[in-house]
Amino acid sequence: MAPQRLTTRTPAARSGFSRRGFVGLLGAGAATAGVGTVAGAPFAHAAAPEGLTAARLPSPSSPGYWDAVERLFMLDKDVLFMNVGTVGSPPREVVEIVDRTHREVAAGAIAAYSDFADVRAVAARGHGCDPDELAVSHNTSDGMSKILAGLALKEGDEILTTNHEHSGGNVPMALLRDRYGVRIKRVALPVGNDQRAEDYVELFRGAITSRTKVLLFSAPTYKTGTMLPIRMLAELAQEHGLISVVDGAHIPGMMAYDFHQLGVDFLAGAGAKWQCAPGGTGLLYLRNKVLDRYNPNPLPEFWPVVSSGYPSEGGVPPRTDGPKESYDIAAQLQQVGNGSMAIMAGVRRACEVWDRIGRERIEKRVVGLSDHLKELVAERWGVKALYSPKDDPRLTCALTSFAPFRDAGDVYDGEKTTALVERLKDEHGITIRTSDFPVAGSDRPHHVVRVSTHLFHQKKDVERVVDALWKLSGTMR
Ligand SMILES: Cc1ncc(COP(=O)(O)O)c(C=O)c1O
Repeated sequence: MAPQRLTTRTPAARSGFSRRGFVGLLGAGAATAGVGTVAGAPFAHAAAPEGLTAARLPSPSSPGYWDAVERLFMLDKDVLFMNVGTVGSPPREVVEIVDRTHREVAAGAIAAYSDFADVRAVAARGHGCDPDELAVSHNTSDGMSKILAGLALKEGDEILTTNHEHSGGNVPMALLRDRYGVRIKRVALPVGNDQRAEDYVELFRGAITSRTKVLLFSAPTYKTGTMLPIRMLAELAQEHGLISVVDGAHIPGMMAYDFHQLGVDFLAGAGAKWQCAPGGTGLLYLRNKVLDRYNPNPLPEFWPVVSSGYPSEGGVPPRTDGPKESYDIAAQLQQVGNGSMAIMAGVRRACEVWDRIGRERIEKRVVGLSDHLKELVAERWGVKALYSPKDDPRLTCALTSFAPFRDAGDVYDGEKTTALVERLKDEHGITIRTSDFPVAGSDRPHHVVRVSTHLFHQKKDVERVVDALWKLSGTMR
């Protein structure tokens, strides 16, 4: 499709600069039509993408609805891709808008010194928070780094976390430890089905000391797909005056959470995993007001360490102690030199696609497929093979980890697990991944497989991966 031309050439249009955000480029109120302007100029997003779009899906009650949802994606169907926990695949209309915008930006040499306020508004709307509390980051790791580097922690302060964190959180914590003498204390997470949400609260409660300043955990953990009970842990943090930080890499696009209701101070999520936004994107939530109902604690001291939006003179007003923000802190994080209009257009469109389908409908679907997978694993291998919870719905999500071999001792065999995953790809055309982690009471790490269930999967795909793994692992005794 030939790119449309920009029609206006004001200096503002050429620079793409807009003081009040990205309204300039994408157009406030163009939420689903994709009509936008550069600083008031008509922009090419009005063109309808070819083929099926989320705006043209049949009624959710129609029998072919989920098949149609699957057709929104351009994922290669020769392979059954079930590793969304590592990376998702953008819908066709997201790819098209990124492509078109790139072409237009190239043709017009358009800069984007913007705080992308309207993209943030769309993303915030889908996540139960306000635009001043949501920045589009480069990914989860970037979000976690900006959160941790922005906190006013000092020598001897303690971060209470878990033994199942990702390097996206571990590395910025290590930097605080090595640079400032911040202490990192870890609780050992339980694994498997035999646990309840309350167990996590007690585990963390028992480890809080007078030095603890931050409670940091992944929800879900990428190791076992255990959805730690965020709201309950946020309440625990509030009770003890702790700052709560969630590595929520897998939350955007998978779970229909309202970030205000979660009651946490910070949450870093991926854009390119379950949300299927372009690569190199993430969502960074930072509470920017006192929420009487969900988090009445004062706002923590926070510095946007990577910013060209922070005032170079005069500083900022004190953070609010009420329900109205005193300034747009997310805008300060968002403005870092020249941004990418194309990528931001893609983030916006991905969020719009999700909102159209309905985030609760998506959560129900993808977690429902995981529930089905867990039932099949329990039937074939026995429930003890599951490293993800199954029976407490507060702990489940769309990531499923389990031990794929019949012999329980094989759980220590990393090479064999890797070989299984490779053979599954080569011989059955199915992509999943391995996962390894420490288990309390075991002197060696456990090695299992992890399967992601998403919008481009059907029940039959879940059955296919189970059958293939059962067959293959049976031949690898
Ligand atoms: C829990 C968790 N945190 C952080 C990351 C890093 O994600 P990103 O690539 O978005 O930085 C991952 C990636 O899989 C993850 O699973």
